[in-house]
Amino acid sequence: MKRYALGGLLALSLLVLTGCRTDMWVQQKVKAQANSEFYALTDPVKGFDGKIYGDGSRPMPENTIARGKLQDPNDPFITGKDSQGNLLTKLPPQVKLTREFLNKGQEKYNIFCAQCHGRAGDGKGMIALRGQWPRPVPSLVREQLLTQPIGYFFSSGKYGFGIMYGYGSRMTDEELWAVAAYVRVLQLSQNANLKDLAPEDIEKLAQAEQAKRERQPRNLAQEN
Ligand code: HEC
Repeated sequence: MKRYALGGLLALSLLVLTGCRTDMWVQQKVKAQANSEFYALTDPVKGFDGKIYGDGSRPMPENTIARGKLQDPNDPFITGKDSQGNLLTKLPPQVKLTREFLNKGQEKYNIFCAQCHGRAGDGKGMIALRGQWPRPVPSLVREQLLTQPIGYFFSSGKYGFGIMYGYGSRMTDEELWAVAAYVRVLQLSQNANLKDLAPEDIEKLAQAEQAKRERQPRNLAQEN
């Protein structure tokens, strides 16, 4: 009985194996984004085998935009400017000023801007300190820039400024707005008035001042 079963299995596997042929592997087929003879040769290339190949994907009609990616090229969110061409003085409606948004701005600023403009925005980044930049790296927290509209920091970051190249290819527009908002944070951090602080922060500041005074080294000459 066992021997019959084994024989049957052998016969079956023989049948199955002979059914395997390779022509499905080697048949003509279209692979996405690969060269192929399948479609019209919009941009023909000569393959290693000397044959002329076209694009394996159908050529896209001109000005095709991926679904969900339609953007108005004049949208202030993209350009940093309003319809009159003036730099935006407020964040565009697509972004909301939240703690997370500023955290994102801080992260991106520290990655892309701090090496030159400094973590504090004072223009004392490592590259600036080493003096290897053909023009001095400006401080972003100096007085003249406090009155610049926020769009100024967005568009300088995105498109570049003078000899500084733009970061539009490295960050999304949303991230660039976050960086611009974070530059405002840096500006405020170094130009704040005491009255801008919350009462409990003023209290904390007073305590810190007091503690600092108590930590002063004793004047031995006076004690003797
Ligand atoms: C490789 C060094 C370097 C990096 C990185 C860099 N900058 Fe600059 N930035 C400069 C220099 C240099 C100038 C002055 C260019 C000039 O005067 O031609 C400048 C100018 C500017 C200005 C104009 C300041 C003014 O005085 O009006 C702004 C705003 C600015 N940068 C923002 C940014 C932001 C935002 C980032 C990060 C996304 C960044 N920069 C990254 C070197 C740098």
